[in-house]
Amino acid sequence: MRKIRTICLSGFLLMIVSCVQKETVTVHYDVVPLPREITTNDDKPFVLNRSTAIGYPKGNDKLKESAEFLSGYILETTGVKLTVRESGSGDNTIMLETGLTHDNEEAYHIAVSEKGIVIKGVSDNGVFYGVQTLRKSLSPSFKGKNIHFPAGTITDYPRFGYRAALFDVGRHYFPTDFIKRFIDILVLHNVNYFHWHLTEDQGWRVEIKKYPKLTEIGSVRKETLVGHLQRKPQQFDNTPHWGFYTQEEIKDIVKYAQERYITIIPEIDLPGHMLSALASYPELGCTGGPYEVATKWGIFEDVLCMGKETTYQFLEDVFTEITELFPSEYIHIGGDECPKVRWEVCPHCQAMIKKLGLKSDGGRTKEQKLQSYAMLEVEKFLKGKNRRVIAWEEILDGGIADNPIVMSWLKEGSGAEAAQGGYDVIMAPHEAVYLDYYQSEDRENEPLAIGGYIPIQRVYHFEPVPKELTEEEGKKIIGTQVNLWTEYISTPEHAEYMLLPRLAAISEVQWSDPEAKDFESFRSRLSNLFQFYDLYHYNAARHILAE
Ligand code: ACM
Ligand code: ZN
Repeated sequence: MRKIRTICLSGFLLMIVSCVQKETVTVHYDVVPLPREITTNDDKPFVLNRSTAIGYPKGNDKLKESAEFLSGYILETTGVKLTVRESGSGDNTIMLETGLTHDNEEAYHIAVSEKGIVIKGVSDNGVFYGVQTLRKSLSPSFKGKNIHFPAGTITDYPRFGYRAALFDVGRHYFPTDFIKRFIDILVLHNVNYFHWHLTEDQGWRVEIKKYPKLTEIGSVRKETLVGHLQRKPQQFDNTPHWGFYTQEEIKDIVKYAQERYITIIPEIDLPGHMLSALASYPELGCTGGPYEVATKWGIFEDVLCMGKETTYQFLEDVFTEITELFPSEYIHIGGDECPKVRWEVCPHCQAMIKKLGLKSDGGRTKEQKLQSYAMLEVEKFLKGKNRRVIAWEEILDGGIADNPIVMSWLKEGSGAEAAQGGYDVIMAPHEAVYLDYYQSEDRENEPLAIGGYIPIQRVYHFEPVPKELTEEEGKKIIGTQVNLWTEYISTPEHAEYMLLPRLAAISEVQWSDPEAKDFESFRSRLSNLFQFYDLYHYNAARHILAE
């Protein structure tokens, strides 16, 4: 009797628990970045259950991968593991397919009815963004609940085809696991390019088989400055810092990114910011050294000697291996912050200037023209390998260039000027998108940063297409990116803190038309995204939540 009572009681409790578990929650499609068009109606919603399947067309491996991603995402938020199957559409299915007609190849359309959900893209890229929207419209708080997807449609496509984030691993090395985590973070924000800044004065981070000393010597610095560069007296930590990515690791990371529709653009920054290469191969410099891998931040006068044929050969060899590792059409060749003091007195550089007939005129020095010549040589070499170069805005300082994409970062107006000059332009102005700048005015309570002040509102309100451009010129702005430089950032937790949630703000700048942007709406939609940050234990800054 007692036993029966216990069984009844536990059955009753189970019923109560399952009733409690069956709380109904409604999915909200207004995620970050905000889809262009969301319509819902009063038809019956689609209700997710354990027998819901995710389908993909027969033989389509890319969509199969996306279906598996979606199944993983749904498991994370709802606790329900959906089966992925090759199928035609049927009831109770989330079907992924291509075949949407739209002039934006990343466009997607989602149709939700009582019977199921269809995510249709122009390309498999578009389907992937549809999957991301569906993923983010759920919430990690949905576990064990009855999940209703309102009937309706979503039509969406990005404003810019180039949506990137730069990560500097030169100043500090970050392990491969974190690079993958960084890529995961980009995926969550519909970013499609990862600009990987791989070489710096303070460290060479990519294995080049033909020049092993680049990593044997160039990837190690004997110590690192403590505190801010401006602090006097300067102090060092007496601790070596090192690290590089083997070619096998790079290939693995490139594949990881590709599977997630992210193209990695490698940057080999030349002819400045090259002390780590000079320390490895001193003959590449004007004076012949000795040099050492930099232990503090800033701009250094020792740069590649662009008067020696061996330097050009070095660059060709390096870029040959780089293009073998990175399938990206775009290769970044740097070009920023290259002092010319060594070149002005270097017999090799001056002989090269004479041989090329370069003369100072019209505000341009012959040394600036030498830089242009060097960048152009690299550009031509890469063009021969069907690649297109991106370079920092200084590439235009010498007045000659072929067809680089110009990355505007320093001077106000440089992006507009480049666009008016007929160049394709990526906007990365430091005053709006440098994420190594402080995000709060309360510096006392922030980790040490390089300076500046870029709150999330500033990033959100950034408009990449300068007002002075005509509509036609405006089309030369192919996109925008945030830059995460790491002089003062040495841990994954700190990198995440600087990146999030400001990356969410740029994701809407990259994706949405300006008239669709609204900071208050963004702020309210951000709260669901924060649940994802918490789910993955991303160390996001929380200032915006307190405001
Ligand atoms: C840069 O911030 N030096 C491109
Ligand atoms: Zn020289």
